[in-house]
Amino acid sequence: MRCESIILAAGLGQRMKSDVPKVLHMIGGRPIISWVVEACWKATGRPPYVVVGPESDDVKQLLGTEVHYVEQAERLGTGHAVLQAREALRDKGTHVLVVNADLPLLRPETLSVLMDCQKANPGPLTLLVASTTAARGFGRVLRDQQGRVTGIVEEAHASRTEQALKELNIGAYVFDAPWLWEHIHRIPLSPKGEYYLTDIVGMAADEGKSVATSEVLDLDEVIGINTREHLAEVEAALRRRINRRWMLDGVTIIDPQTTYIGPEVSLGRDTTLFPNTYLEGATTIANGCQIGPCTMIRDSKVGNGCQIFFSVLQQAILDDDVSVGPFAHLRPRAHLMRGVHMGNFGEVKNSTLEAGVKMGHFSYVGDAVVGAETNIGAGTITCNFDREGHKNRTEIGPGAFIGSDSLLVAPVRVGRGAATGAGSVVTRDVPDGGLVVGMPARAVRAKGVRG
Ligand code: UD1
Ligand code: CA
Repeated sequence: MRCESIILAAGLGQRMKSDVPKVLHMIGGRPIISWVVEACWKATGRPPYVVVGPESDDVKQLLGTEVHYVEQAERLGTGHAVLQAREALRDKGTHVLVVNADLPLLRPETLSVLMDCQKANPGPLTLLVASTTAARGFGRVLRDQQGRVTGIVEEAHASRTEQALKELNIGAYVFDAPWLWEHIHRIPLSPKGEYYLTDIVGMAADEGKSVATSEVLDLDEVIGINTREHLAEVEAALRRRINRRWMLDGVTIIDPQTTYIGPEVSLGRDTTLFPNTYLEGATTIANGCQIGPCTMIRDSKVGNGCQIFFSVLQQAILDDDVSVGPFAHLRPRAHLMRGVHMGNFGEVKNSTLEAGVKMGHFSYVGDAVVGAETNIGAGTITCNFDREGHKNRTEIGPGAFIGSDSLLVAPVRVGRGAATGAGSVVTRDVPDGGLVVGMPARAVRAKGVRG
């Protein structure tokens, strides 16, 4: 079976009431369309054909040149959308998978099962269906008394009896390719003035052909997005799916309802996530950490045994046994090495705090290297930004003692084992073991006992 896939993404998504195309709204931090592209690509093993509307630059920019595009100049319905792919696909593949772009939680495995069903079906197509009383605007599957599928009726055109039917058309189909390309242009115009792909099901049944179905049991997978309410439902379902996976893998989640783990995040065993925790982007957290409550970590790497409490981390690296917070802010290229403690109201950016550094209270460290075991006193600031707009570096030796409220005016170096008195404004380098005090700071000891 060589199966090509078509993703229908040209609709306007008017029910979203948005200036952004529906398929670019985000689920789990990724646009809806990216999920569907990934599912189709994995299931068929080849890049999908995405049907896009006339103003589709944003979608093309997002998906890049690895997928194929088919333009639907006029939005005349799902049948018309598939027809636009005929020229590109007519001589390719034995089968065609068609998937609506607004079903981000469909798993590739589900699409593979759908493909297998069609492989075993002597007839021209297999539909993905689900059984539920919560129809939410989905088309209903019609069957005759023998249980054979005879068609699909759209909710807008369904009679009361038809509306009561529980078997729904999900919006994913596998076709025998030659049959599809022979029939797609024969779909009649619907009363709404659109060509419904779903009408092709009735055409197959009228020819006496067998239409097979493949049922999805996990209803979370088939929540289609038509409105913002559906968007939130899908987000919640994705959260349940991801959280369940990590709990099965040995992560404790105190309150899954308020724990948001992105699809690319990875977590180690015996890590505990407290409520209101947001883990986003390419974040990895190792074993035995305590994260949260009320913490956001994006694109960061956290080692074993770390504690992060009421804090925000962006592109930061924490080695093992680091403790951070409450109310700490780690910005890009902050690197806290083993055993660092960073307490309340601290900010670190583009700096390395070597092993065992203590920075307990409301300090800012930017563009700096702080040597191992140094103590950063309360209210210390590296003044890294000058009037010319340059960022200057601060170097603080290992084993140094920076007194409370020190201002280190960069570029400046505080030597190994050196000390600054409380309230010093350090404008010149301090030698190893030196001690400076005052404003501007003056040496009171050239080299001391500390180093
Ligand atoms: C469609 C199905 C319905 C099914 C439901 C489930 C039809 C006629 N109906 O209804 O039976 O239960 O999906 O998901 O197919 N699109 C285009 N070009 C168009 C129109 C739509 O590419 O001219 C795309 C949309 O971007 C969307 C998909 O096709 O991704 C489905 O369109 P939508 O308007 O959401 O169809 P539904 O009313 O949900
Ligand atoms: Ca839809």
